[in-house]
Amino acid sequence: MTTIERFILDQEEKYPEATGELSNLLYDIALAAKIIAASIRRAGLVNILGSAGATNVQGEEQQKLDLFANATLTNALNHTGRVCVMASEEDEMLIPVPDNYPVGKYVVLYDPLDGSSNIDVNGAVGTIFSIYRRVSLEGHGALADVLQAGCKQVAAGYVIYGSSTMLVYTTGQGVAGFTLDPSIGEFLLSHPKLVTPRVGKYYSVNESNFARWQKGTQWAVRGLHGDRPEEIKGKNSRYIGSLVADFHRNLIAGGIFLYPSDSRNPDGKLRLLYECSPMAFIAEQAGGSATDGTRRILDIMPDHLHQRTPLVIGSREDVGYVADTLRSLQQDRA
Ligand code: AHG
Ligand code: MN
Ligand code: MN
Repeated sequence: MTTIERFILDQEEKYPEATGELSNLLYDIALAAKIIAASIRRAGLVNILGSAGATNVQGEEQQKLDLFANATLTNALNHTGRVCVMASEEDEMLIPVPDNYPVGKYVVLYDPLDGSSNIDVNGAVGTIFSIYRRVSLEGHGALADVLQAGCKQVAAGYVIYGSSTMLVYTTGQGVAGFTLDPSIGEFLLSHPKLVTPRVGKYYSVNESNFARWQKGTQWAVRGLHGDRPEEIKGKNSRYIGSLVADFHRNLIAGGIFLYPSDSRNPDGKLRLLYECSPMAFIAEQAGGSATDGTRRILDIMPDHLHQRTPLVIGSREDVGYVADTLRSLQQDRA
């Protein structure tokens, strides 16, 4: 049995220059994940389900568990001396390290509770995190530390609170997955090297937006239905409405997830910094890929904190098919 601590330590030993700070940061996140998991497991029994009665900066209704998960992560990270600044989907501004605490060289961004509309119906939800090295030279972190292209991430991961709780992460040396053993309260290595199939079984997209998609997206999704077998074999549909859960299934079984732009949401729905960049890093490290239709997600330079981007992510050949289809239709129109 390999615990997550042991695994992180073994990885760190491969880098003689490592100070152990990143390892400790990953433990901090694993601890926060265990606290959030414990709370989710008891969600129907204690008064933590339902809306908190407020909206976040994106105008979305905040659930009580969104706020609990956000506070848990922030409190697990802000006093350790490993982080200089943080940012969360649930907070409009940067989250500073309080004045009386030391600052460190890392920057952490998170979607504390992803898929939160699934909580009240006992569906799978998740936490997504993304870690960068600071670019500012000293003192408290600044906006420039947070607004970095995804290719600069030093680590990214997610936790899925599903039928079991799993933590999946990468530091750029492949992707490893750990399953929480609730009897001992430890994440144990269950998926030492996650590699996603080149061609997937599933496609995942919210098809209720179909009429609002651009022609290219409609055309590509029809291909995924199996309407153009000479171009691509049809796939089975699976959509939970929780990026972590949809992504995780497709990572393991092979598949493609799309949240394209539509006439109501010209930049799609998902947030570059808290959702798309970390998932893109994991997808690439598992042999898959991620694009906004024309650009590699990891190459996008953000210009604001809560920026959204269309997302096409998953098995490499399937993402390639969608990107080629979008490109050729754009060329036809030009
Ligand atoms: P969050 O709960 O963090 O706001 O994220 C919800 C996201 C994502 O998890 C999911 O893929 C997507 O919203 C679903 O959106 P639709 O309900 O529009 O399909
Ligand atoms: Mn989310
Ligand atoms: Mn969220």
